[in-house]
Amino acid sequence: MAKVYVFDHPLIQHKLAFIRDVQTGTKEFRELVDEVATLMAFEITRDMPLKEVEIETPVSKAKVKVLSGKKLGIIPILRAGIGMVDGILNLIPAAKVGHVGLYRDPETLKPVEYYVKLPSDLAERECIVVDPMLATGGSAIEAITSIKKRGAVNIKFMCLIAAPEGVELLKEAHPDVDIYIAGLDEKLNDHGYIVPGLGDAGDRLFGTK
Ligand code: PRP
Ligand code: URA
Repeated sequence: MAKVYVFDHPLIQHKLAFIRDVQTGTKEFRELVDEVATLMAFEITRDMPLKEVEIETPVSKAKVKVLSGKKLGIIPILRAGIGMVDGILNLIPAAKVGHVGLYRDPETLKPVEYYVKLPSDLAERECIVVDPMLATGGSAIEAITSIKKRGAVNIKFMCLIAAPEGVELLKEAHPDVDIYIAGLDEKLNDHGYIVPGLGDAGDRLFGTK
């Protein structure tokens, strides 16, 4: 069964408070999302396997540890997922980036796929699907189904804010995908928005309405 991790790191919680605030403008919102993505990437990579190698320091030989596991693929769900990519690349600059374009139909709240472009060696990579919001769960479920169809097998999902409804549906649909969240909120409102949430992540990131 999928595990759900809610990051309680004080820096993540502090920055998330400003991300939520309606007074935070586009520039600051973007910077904060970038910073939180870096901090979350630091936490999410905690279990990466290491191997021992021998090197030489200026003083002596030394046995040291370096990363030994699979390479990473970062898969943002367009549009808003783009806002989290650079923050992760700050820590893992060699990761490849794939894109899944989905928008949520405002009437049905169902995701509509309009673009997919992924690294060709997806099956050999540990994939982190990123999107600031997990609301009904439709977009995350669809994006993960889409990358699995194209070969991805090792997948994590990372978001800033989730609604309990979306978490449950995602766990059910993809029990092999662990979920990493900065803030787990109360509920969805009648329009499928997360309460209290942060509003429309794409609009706040890109300054649209
Ligand atoms: C937002 C958000 C997620 C989706 C979450 O995207 O970035 O992708 O909604 O909702 P769900 O869990 O109910 O599917 P949106 O559809 O607004 O598209 P955008 O990023 O292009 O603005
Ligand atoms: N998408 C958003 O951007 N915000 C929500 O609260 C729900 C879906």
